[in-house]
Amino acid sequence: MKAIQFTGYGDISEKVIISEIQKPILNKDEVLIETRSVSVNPLDIKVIEGKLKAVRKFKLPATLGYDVSGIVVDKDKNVTDFNIGDEVFSKVNKQGTFTEFVVVHKDIISLKPKNVNFEEAASLPLVGLTAIQALKRGKLKEGDKVLVHAGSGGVGSFAIQYAKYKGAYVYTTTSTENVEWVKKLGADVVIDYKSQNYLDIVSNVDLVLDTLGNKFTEDAFKVIKTGGKVISLVGPIDKETASRMKLNFFVKLILAWRRRKITKHIRLKSAYYSLIFMRANAKQLNEIAELVESGIVKTNLDKVFTFNDALQALLYVKKGRTKGKVVINVKA
Ligand SMILES: NC(=O)c1ccc[n+]([C@@H]2O[C@H](COP(=O)([O-])OP(=O)(O)OC[C@H]3O[C@@H](n4cnc5c(N)ncnc54)[C@H](OP(=O)(O)O)[C@@H]3O)[C@@H](O)[C@H]2O)c1
Repeated sequence: MKAIQFTGYGDISEKVIISEIQKPILNKDEVLIETRSVSVNPLDIKVIEGKLKAVRKFKLPATLGYDVSGIVVDKDKNVTDFNIGDEVFSKVNKQGTFTEFVVVHKDIISLKPKNVNFEEAASLPLVGLTAIQALKRGKLKEGDKVLVHAGSGGVGSFAIQYAKYKGAYVYTTTSTENVEWVKKLGADVVIDYKSQNYLDIVSNVDLVLDTLGNKFTEDAFKVIKTGGKVISLVGPIDKETASRMKLNFFVKLILAWRRRKITKHIRLKSAYYSLIFMRANAKQLNEIAELVESGIVKTNLDKVFTFNDALQALLYVKKGRTKGKVVINVKA
């Protein structure tokens, strides 16, 4: 079967190939999905560029991709929740999804929302799970004020809709071209970062969802209220997460040094800070399906590429200007 793989760490244009690989074999509790669509995440770019080498090792060449939608074509005898022919979607943990067939553990699959096609379904899992897990970590509740950075991105566009559903008041940032589009997602205050400085507009919020990192992570502490929360997708690893990762003493020391400015801000603002590593979660995937079926969350496709144009899809996402999500059709 065909697969989009990367052959080594480095430049996407040089390292991404279309390969012929073995069809995967079903193991206990797994489902075999015939892939229809997959989506591209900035994570795929980071993987190829070797930015995750320290936390995840790949046996190269390795198949890319985390999101998948498709049809169940086989299953292990222990799997009772899914049947052959079911239309499903998932965010996988290990095997790449940019290929014709994917085996996925039954516990991280959900039935695809009935009111969307495979392309739209594939666009949802990773960003939807991330937004839900980040806002849950931030204990978002009705009436809270939240700043979601990069409202036009994959995570941001989902997070705005989810935060509104939870009854929050939502500030977001985007560029001039996307302001009207992001308003339609439901954000209460859309800040055009090309003509406005969000630091002049946002203050005393309960929570910041930091999707941008670096200066944005530090500056988040300027706009939260005392005792507020900063949940980051890209900032330094927090102390609790570092402890959970069972890292050695020296690595922990390096991480503590890297987050030293954040540590100071946490102390000064009596704040809570956490870096999210999103995880596959079927319960939350079901929640995403329900939110989409009830029209509370809408999917947002920027571009759809063919399988043979997967490299173009990856290069497009690398530019960092995606409005919503980029999808690749594996089987039209
Ligand atoms: N830790 C985790 O578990 C986890 C999970 C998911 C994602 N992530 C990370 O989170 C980040 C966001 O992911 P994503 O999928 O949402 O990315 P994305 O879809 O590629 O984000 C692109 C969007 O970012 C916006 N943007 C870029 N610079 C901006 C700025 N200075 N201010 C406001 N908006 C800006 C762009 O809007 P304009 O074109 O208008 O600038 C574009 O719409 C990535 O680094 C990703 O790797 C981490």
